[in-house]
Amino acid sequence: METVGSALDNWKDIWSSKSAGYSIASDGSMTDLLRLDGFDSGMGYISPENWFEYVRQTCETIGLATDDEFLEVGCGAGAFMHALSPCPRIQVGVDYSANQIKMAKEFKSEQMMFFEKDANDIHTLEKKFDVVLVNSVIQYFPSMDYFLEFFGKVVAVLRDGGRGCVLDINDIEKKDEYTRRRYIEHGGKKKYLENYKGLKHAFYSREQILEILERLGVGSVRIEDQFIRNCRVSEFRFNVFFEK
Ligand SMILES: C[S@@+](CC[C@H](N)C(=O)[O-])C[C@H]1O[C@@H](n2cnc3c(N)ncnc32)[C@H](O)[C@@H]1O
Repeated sequence: METVGSALDNWKDIWSSKSAGYSIASDGSMTDLLRLDGFDSGMGYISPENWFEYVRQTCETIGLATDDEFLEVGCGAGAFMHALSPCPRIQVGVDYSANQIKMAKEFKSEQMMFFEKDANDIHTLEKKFDVVLVNSVIQYFPSMDYFLEFFGKVVAVLRDGGRGCVLDINDIEKKDEYTRRRYIEHGGKKKYLENYKGLKHAFYSREQILEILERLGVGSVRIEDQFIRNCRVSEFRFNVFFEK
């Protein structure tokens, strides 16, 4: 993983400002939820139709079932949870942004519960889950230590036989081309660095994640290229699935 200094607070502010002041009169449609969760523009844009396809494929890969107890870490306003199919009987979402959690609660369905919590505090839920899902979150992590601690926490809150998946991970092998495209997207390197001052994305290697999971005693690990139709960031990302 690349070191990312002490960017945690900055990213937290960004996520909080995204949902702050968002009209509560909004209808909580998937378009709204995707906007709140940051999938509404540029290389990261995902249409509701393609989002539903992505979540459906993920649910199939995990083998999601209606009697599962499901946790999403870094759930944002709940775009992923609202697209789950089949719908697990219990869905818990945590996010460190109070504003994101406020929006998630506004639009929540009956089986959903949301808590304001840092990713590394999930043990304080004092509950185990059949499935733990993390989508498009670990690129905002502040350090290698934080990232290592996080994987330990995810494995710890899984029941034996439970399934974990960490999705949309920035691939360090593709960092140069990804960065080049982002510069172009933002009108050049200078403009990009001005816009993203103090905000860095973390990149990871597949080998590193395999090693961590092996050290944590997780045997069954699968790593796949990310695929989200018509999403330009997708080719720079990968997904990890494992079973405890
Ligand atoms: C790109 S959004 C993804 C939201 C959701 N997972 C989805 O797929 O719709 C990233 C979310 O991760 C949250 N996040 C980032 N770092 C976090 C951390 N260390 N602990 C908890 N939440 C975090 C942000 O607040 C934001 O809501």
